[in-house]
Amino acid sequence: MDKLLITGGTALKGEIAISGAKNAALPLMATALMAEEGMVLDNLPSLADTDCMCELLAHLGVESVREGDTVSFASARGAETDAPYEIVRKMRASVLVLGPLLARYGRARVSLPGGCAIGSRPVDLHIMAMEALGAKVTLEEGDVLAEAAGGLIGGDVVFPTVSVGATENVLMAAALAKGTSRLINVAREPEIIDLAECLIAMGAKISGQGTDVIEVEGVTALTSCRHAVVADRIEAGTFALAAAITQGQITLTHARADHLASLFAAMAASGVQVEIDGDRITVTATERPRPVDITTDPYPGFPTDLQAQFMALMTVASGTSQVAETIFENRFMHVPELARMGANIQVNGGHALVRGVEQLTAAPVMATDLRASVSLVLAALVAEGETTLQRVYHLDRGYDRLEEKLSACGAKIRRVRG
Ligand code: UD1
Repeated sequence: MDKLLITGGTALKGEIAISGAKNAALPLMATALMAEEGMVLDNLPSLADTDCMCELLAHLGVESVREGDTVSFASARGAETDAPYEIVRKMRASVLVLGPLLARYGRARVSLPGGCAIGSRPVDLHIMAMEALGAKVTLEEGDVLAEAAGGLIGGDVVFPTVSVGATENVLMAAALAKGTSRLINVAREPEIIDLAECLIAMGAKISGQGTDVIEVEGVTALTSCRHAVVADRIEAGTFALAAAITQGQITLTHARADHLASLFAAMAASGVQVEIDGDRITVTATERPRPVDITTDPYPGFPTDLQAQFMALMTVASGTSQVAETIFENRFMHVPELARMGANIQVNGGHALVRGVEQLTAAPVMATDLRASVSLVLAALVAEGETTLQRVYHLDRGYDRLEEKLSACGAKIRRVRG
């Protein structure tokens, strides 16, 4: 297994081009299942997760060809509607094919990631939404089997809690349902807007994206389109925090500052300067960060996907801060690893109390999930000595050429293949 070796202590300086968003790319790719004449996605990041989605789509009859950042998807051939465990277990977001398959073919069978039972495994909102559009859903041998022989029927879908993935699934499904759907208490993330815009370009009739109620007037078919994936706000936020933690200066290009307001407010309160010039964002830090409390929330709140990285910054702050995680329980897997590097963090339920220390020190650490691992990279960039980060495959799921981008700004980071 590959590992990363990172020597801390260099203030990062330079420019980083932001890639297309992983979390926008995955649902956009799933729409290829519904495009009768194929489609083209530009700015599609090259990641383990996007490769995995290509593999899943190929299994479902949609071939794709990549040329640089552009991927062309052929129209679906045949009607394979089973997403098997061997592929789904590698990527939870595979569940995003449920809505498109069901809407187009009236049937979908998607393995549950991890094989856990419905209820304890959170895909209940996806299932509830499909049922609200008239599907019959059962659990068979660890798979979700959804059927709507006569096609889906538009209706009201009311979400008890906000879910990004379930919003995306039902938005795709409703696009091809008979009649009008009102999706209520939906996610407002930029990735939802990107998906709605792509579907509209394919002929869907959608309004209200970006608010908490989306209206969809079903159409009988979706044709084709060419769409560019929106910039990755989480990647941009991660590199902004890399500039902050190393007290350097990084200019992010091809970025969307308007999608990062909550992070930038917290960074400003911490003493970091953020200058915005169109799609260029320059982040400058010249002093030790001040402590700032954050609470994760659905968009436009502070993103849970930047919680670990912000916590890394707070580990070296000049005082004590509180990090509250409200979206996922158990999303503090980075805490024991950061502690190995000298961080002082106390966790109590969904709250972490972070007492800033003057200096982190290098240690062998282990990546546990995508965002947790990149928080360890950030910590390693300021730690004294050489940190070894194991299980780098977690990072490869979601960061396009991470070492290359950081090295270009002076980071001492290299990969050892193994
Ligand atoms: C997406 C993102 C992920 C991000 C998360 C929250 C992708 C591919 N992934 O994940 O990076 O961290 O949004 O911004 O876009 N829940 C249920 N039942 C369900 C679905 C979700 O209880 O059927 C719960 C989850 O356990 C969680 C909360 O709802 O506590 C939010 O999850 P959700 O917004 O659905 O996250 P994902 O779409 O999986």
